[in-house]
Amino acid sequence: MKLSLTALLASAASSSVIMATQYCDPATSVCYEQMVEANMGVAYRIAIPNVAAAPFDILLQIVAPKSVGWAGVGWGGQMTLNPLTLGWANGDATGVSSRWAPYHSMPGPYAGATYTVLKGSETNSTHWTLTTLCRGCSQWTAQGGGTTSLDPAATTPVNLAYALSRMMPAEPANNTSSIAYHTARGMLTLDMAAAKTDKFEEYVQSLS
Ligand SMILES: *[C@@H]1O[C@H](CO)[C@@H](O)[C@H](O)[C@H]1NC(C)=O
Ligand SMILES: *[C@@H]1O[C@H](CO)[C@@H](O)[C@H](O)[C@H]1NC(C)=O
Ligand SMILES: *[C@@H]1O[C@H](CO)[C@@H](O)[C@H](O)[C@H]1NC(C)=O
Repeated sequence: MKLSLTALLASAASSSVIMATQYCDPATSVCYEQMVEANMGVAYRIAIPNVAAAPFDILLQIVAPKSVGWAGVGWGGQMTLNPLTLGWANGDATGVSSRWAPYHSMPGPYAGATYTVLKGSETNSTHWTLTTLCRGCSQWTAQGGGTTSLDPAATTPVNLAYALSRMMPAEPANNTSSIAYHTARGMLTLDMAAAKTDKFEEYVQSLS
């Protein structure tokens, strides 16, 4: 049985995306497709290279108020059986954690994706920002063997899942730390064409 994240726990707060727009970081001139979830105002920013098919690397920036303990993306649009990227504040820095949930229980570490934490990953008095490059988030193999890919040529918006919690991970310096259950979750609708950029490699270099 495959439950979508939206179907999971009707008691948890659900919220929809309020806007998808282009966002260009004034400090770095890196441009992303930005989706802001309506519950806590967490911004998810994504850029992908101008390619015709997966696998491809993904540039992800998450900007969250400090009241958000962790926030994450499910690249297949659900909690289970797809790569999950979690971010959180870790002192003045931010941490990234690669996860996978075989069931609707706390996601464990996932070795199928690797991350580089990039410039602009920091925590200030009001927000934390994670800027990371993911290799392994655009294509994955489910238990049972089937390969699933994000389609960079999709002409209709692609559903990604997000989830967040108001609780900090138990050990913020530990990327396999236990985490609290999400307090909100929903869908991000990613416009692949808008997230695509010819400057992808340039962006990654400038952030490295
Ligand atoms: C934790 O960090 C190490 C070192 O960077 C990395 O090799 C590992 O894949 C990470 N694990 C998770 C679950 O993100
Ligand atoms: C902290 O960082 C966020 C994200 O860059 C920014 O919007 C916010 O203004 C910063 N807060 C302060 C107090 O500088
Ligand atoms: C990180 O957290 C996991 C899960 O709680 C734990 O098993 C592991 O020992 C921790 N690692 C360190 C270095 O504390």
